[in-house]
Amino acid sequence: MKTKPSHNLALDLARVTEAAALAAGRWMGRGEKEDGDQAAVDAMRLVLNSIDIDGVIVIGEGEKDEAPMLFNGERLGTGDGPVLDIAVDPVEGTRLLAQGRQGSVATVALAESGSMFNPGPIVYMHKIAVGRLGKGHIDIDAPIEVNLNAIAREKGADVDDLTVVILERPRHEELIQRVRETGARIRLITDGDVAGAILAAQQGSGIDILIGVGGTPEGVLAACALKCMGGEIQGRLYPRNEAEMKAAKDLGYDLDKVLRIDDLVATDDIFFAVTGITDGELVDGVNYFGAGARTHSIVMRGITGTVREIIATHRWDKLMTVSEIQYDRIG
Ligand code: FBP
Repeated sequence: MKTKPSHNLALDLARVTEAAALAAGRWMGRGEKEDGDQAAVDAMRLVLNSIDIDGVIVIGEGEKDEAPMLFNGERLGTGDGPVLDIAVDPVEGTRLLAQGRQGSVATVALAESGSMFNPGPIVYMHKIAVGRLGKGHIDIDAPIEVNLNAIAREKGADVDDLTVVILERPRHEELIQRVRETGARIRLITDGDVAGAILAAQQGSGIDILIGVGGTPEGVLAACALKCMGGEIQGRLYPRNEAEMKAAKDLGYDLDKVLRIDDLVATDDIFFAVTGITDGELVDGVNYFGAGARTHSIVMRGITGTVREIIATHRWDKLMTVSEIQYDRIG
């Protein structure tokens, strides 16, 4: 059905992630994980509350690290407007930011109410994520060798042309060894598998697939982005211990189930935004230049599949006369 162009909330979300990145970027390299996170959380909350939505946080960040959080169940927005689920990761890559390393981003997604998967107590999931060409050709149950062959075939490439992104963790030692044996190239990342998944779906990024165990909330955020981009992600919950397994079972989670992209976010009506905090492969970090700062964001909409890159210049002489947040120096 054809409709008139409607409000694209992804453009509002750019302001949300820009604010988080501008506030958090001041904490780059200061070794204070929580302060950077807090700055991003406060900015994100303030700007989200200015948008005409009736939103509830389904994917909040912070539980895992007991960090300052936008908590699950928190209502955000003016209350006038569509009823929506919200997923936030004010600082994806808190360690990266604290250590001044590449790749920390601020990210947020909105989707139709009731559509986002609620990870409950399960912090981690297995993930496999690809872009448009790989879509329909991955299987989380199949050996990695089979998946890599299938992707190479679809891309008209050899397996040793592929680049696989994997979080550098002891739990991935065997996976890394097996990928090496296929001949595929590996990009080990120390953190930040939302950006890793988006890069796998972004044409020309030089990344073909993300695989491994990472955060479940990050899996839902990645699913939101990949739906907009026409990619695919599959997952399976990965309880860390007996207690987590029991808690999940008691709550009715099926730990064997393959979570497909539609299980992670059950709608195409999605809006997604990401802004760089520190420089990275996906987006540039915040560039403070005395009189202001420049931010680099990507925003996406699921219904239309439009992906926009936004470079914004923020000027302290004007912004600081109206902004509640102290962007021009560390808060
Ligand atoms: P934080 O921003 O919460 O620190 O998450 C960073 C991250 O690397 C995610 O990208 C990833 O999904 C998760 O942590 C992996 O968890 P862990 O560091 O415990 O292996």
